[in-house]
Amino acid sequence: MTFSRSVKIAPSILSADFANFGAEIRAIEDQGADWVHVDVMDGHFVPNLTFGPMAVKAFRQHVKTVMDVHLMITPVDPYIDAYAEAGADVLTAHVEAGPHIHRTLQAIKAAGMKAGVALNPGTPAEAVAHVLDLADLVCVMTVNPGFGGQKFIDMGSKIRALRGMIGDREVHIEIDGGVDPTTARQVVEAGADLLVAGSAVFRGGSVDTPEVYGRNIAAIRAAANG
Ligand code: DX5
Ligand code: ZN
Repeated sequence: MTFSRSVKIAPSILSADFANFGAEIRAIEDQGADWVHVDVMDGHFVPNLTFGPMAVKAFRQHVKTVMDVHLMITPVDPYIDAYAEAGADVLTAHVEAGPHIHRTLQAIKAAGMKAGVALNPGTPAEAVAHVLDLADLVCVMTVNPGFGGQKFIDMGSKIRALRGMIGDREVHIEIDGGVDPTTARQVVEAGADLLVAGSAVFRGGSVDTPEVYGRNIAAIRAAANG
């Protein structure tokens, strides 16, 4: 996993067919996905529930690129080893999920994964100022987490602030929520390099018509690169 600031698209399998994850993952990777984004929700930190480490381990067998696991759970620390064992390449925790994000990021790295820190729309960029040396990725939520298909919330000033704070550090800025061909360019111009997209990738397609996923990914990438 070499670091690059070129635009990368990470489809969220939250919008995939939940009865067919293996084929869905293979289809999006065949159609140009750079990373695969896996949304873990606990029905407590967010008002929705998805899957846990056993399911994520099963997904791993189909992922050839990078498995990017976004934890929307609290607490985080008791589950870090389970997600390492499940094969997560990147494990992202929310800064709002507990009082000890510094310890959490240390533990994620100690378990052998890249560490991400996510910010809800209401949380300022400054909340991660003192953990940037521990982070490989900052995830800026452009929806309130919990569901796919929500309306994009403009976080341009936050993205710009983070880009300045990150400086030369090899830290990705990931955008999660409401990314589509109409919103992709503005977040990249503000400093993002990693775009999560659920509904905008899976919309209109299926494992039987994977070329639709390919067109959707290409449209987001083309818009993002201007
Ligand atoms: C939201 C999740 C997102 C979600 C994005 O809580 O973290 O990854 O799947 O879905 P879209 O792209 O449909 O907004
Ligand atoms: Zn996500």
